[in-house]
Order: sequence, then structure tokens, then C-alpha cells
Amino acid sequence: MPEDLEELRAATTALLSLATDLQAWDAVRVGTLGKSGALTTLLKELGKTAPEARRERGAALNRLKDDLATAIEARRVALEAEALAARLAAERMDVTLPPRPEIPGSLHPLSRTLEEITAIFGAMGFSVAEGPDIESDWHNFSALNIPGHHPARDDHDTFYLPGVPEQGSNGPPRVLRTHTSPVQVRTMLGQPPPIRVIVPGRTYRADHDATHSPMFHQCEGLVIDRDITLGHLKGCLTDFLRAFFGITTLPVRFRASYFPFTEPSMEVDIGWSRRTGEIGGGTDWLEILGSGMVHPKVLANCGIDPREWQGFAFGMGMERLTMLKHGMPDLRPFYESDLRWLRHYAASPFAPASLHEGVAG
Ligand code: PHE
Repeated sequence: MPEDLEELRAATTALLSLATDLQAWDAVRVGTLGKSGALTTLLKELGKTAPEARRERGAALNRLKDDLATAIEARRVALEAEALAARLAAERMDVTLPPRPEIPGSLHPLSRTLEEITAIFGAMGFSVAEGPDIESDWHNFSALNIPGHHPARDDHDTFYLPGVPEQGSNGPPRVLRTHTSPVQVRTMLGQPPPIRVIVPGRTYRADHDATHSPMFHQCEGLVIDRDITLGHLKGCLTDFLRAFFGITTLPVRFRASYFPFTEPSMEVDIGWSRRTGEIGGGTDWLEILGSGMVHPKVLANCGIDPREWQGFAFGMGMERLTMLKHGMPDLRPFYESDLRWLRHYAASPFAPASLHEGVAG
């Protein structure tokens, strides 16, 4: 092969090995095989070669062209493989990384409160009952001695749904239950006394601010037996509140009040300091739950003879209890799934509430 062609081969090979990315590689390709590339130019000049030498030089040029095209292509393949390997290395993901410690899950403070309430009442012989969130107007109001015209319905402004479809558009109206009290009715209709249940669950009212949410949680309680008195109600709720807040001397006050489904009715207050927020300290009172002796009319509505049986009921807001116990100022973060808030207030699922260690933990 003529010397000038050998030189071109050597120069192009050297340039190719210096090209370390596809841009530099393309410059070599164009500079060699492009329209005015070095080899193309030599091919164009073939016409000027003396006819007797033309054939031999033409053959040599074509061989060189084939060789260089092969080398250039091989370099492209190599560069692309290198680029892919670099990308794979850079984007490498270690799928064997162990999970972060919080991933096994922690308990939402409300779940923890529910565990604590259940542990305390469980020790007093209560079991847990449940009912539907979408309730009939009858269970939520009428059976509880709150007829359609009753002003107590104003306190329970809620979300109404169309009547039960199978019963036509004039079917009995349904509501998102405004309290867990309808489950009192369901329980009394579903089992004969004696009854001792608590009813935790979601409840709904048309309320929304820092301390009210349109969806919140209550826990109802119901005791029906032959000789139940106001004394049992007071003892049961005093014991519960002292165990829940972990303060054996917590002051508890029963204050006359009104609910259509209890007679007499009582609001229950605990002692606290308005100034410092300390539960059990100070000289102020804080309303914490509603209670009373089950109204004879409610017993009768549920097929229980009020001359033979009597009992008491109570209802409390679970968010409120949780906020007071943990000094939380705002209700809204309960439902915002903010991990920082959850990490701060969540409880360990590996230390369930039990009376052995005291639920106040
Ligand atoms: N259901 C009442 C409320 O939501 C609370 C309550 C329950 C009062 C049981 C007395 C007895 O306000």
C-alpha cells in the first residue's frame, strides 16, 4: 500500500482511539469518510492519477476505505457499550438495603387511645360492639327519644343520604351517624340483658375548625342489668378516667345536664389548670364526656322492660381524650398523614396497652 495511504490509516486509527465520546467519534468519521473527508478527497483525486497507475491505486483506496469504515463502526459500538456501562454504574440501586426502622409501622395516637380504652374497660368486663357508619334516622335519632321535631337534632347537624334504594325514594332517611349511641339501640335489640359493651367508632357532624372535624371518633358505653344505679356510673367512669390519665387522684365531677336518651343526664368534668393545661392540677374544670341513666323510653323502644332492667350509658370523643392526654393543641393533624407529626406522637406497636404496666405509659 502506498505510503500516503498507510499514513492516513495510522492517523485515522490514532484519532479514533483518542475519541472517547460519540461527539469526538463523529468528528473523526466525518473527517475521514464525509463529503470532504480525507479519504473521500483522495477518491475524488483518483481521476487525476495517470491511467496506468489508476487501477492499482483505486483498489488500494477501496481496501483502505473498507478497513477504515469497519474500524470506525467498531469504535462506535465500543463507545456506546462504555456509555451504557457508565450509566448503569451511576444509576445503580441497591435493592438489598434494609428497610428504615419506622417502616414496620407505628400506631396512630388514636389507635393507641382505642387500645387503652379497650384495655381499661376490658378489665371491667366490657366487650366491644360495632355498628354501621351509615345509619337509619330511626337508630340515630328516633329510637333514642329524639323525634323529628326535637330541638336536640340541631346540635347534631349532619350529612343526610337518600332513603334506602330498595324501599323507593320515599324510604326511611339515612344519616352519617352523629354519635355512637345508635349502637346502644342495635345492641339492646340484638342481645338480651345483662349487657356491658363499649362501642368505639367513626362519627360525623357538619363542623370544621381547629378542634372539630366533620369526621371524628367516639366511644360509647352501655351497661344494662337489674340493679344498676347512678353509683355504678360514677364509680365506673371515675375509675376509667383515673386509669386513662394515669392520675390516681384525678378530680372527677358529675354535673347535671340533658340528653334526650338518658334520665338523669350528667356531664363529666375532670380537674385541670386552664393556665398551664396540666390535667389533674389547678382549680378549673374541663368537660370530658356525656353520660346518664338509660331513659326508660329507650329501653322500651328496644324491647327491654324498664321495670325489670336499668342501666347507664356514656359517650366520649376519642380525639379530645387523645389531645388532652398528650397536650396536642390542634385536631387537624390527626388526618393529615404528616410523618413528622406521626413520628412525634405515634406509639410502638410492640408495646400494646395493658393494665400490667398502666396504660398511661
Ligand atoms: N351521644 C352523646 C353525644 O354525642 C353522648 C352521650 C352518650 C350522652 C351516652 C349520654 C349517654 O353528645
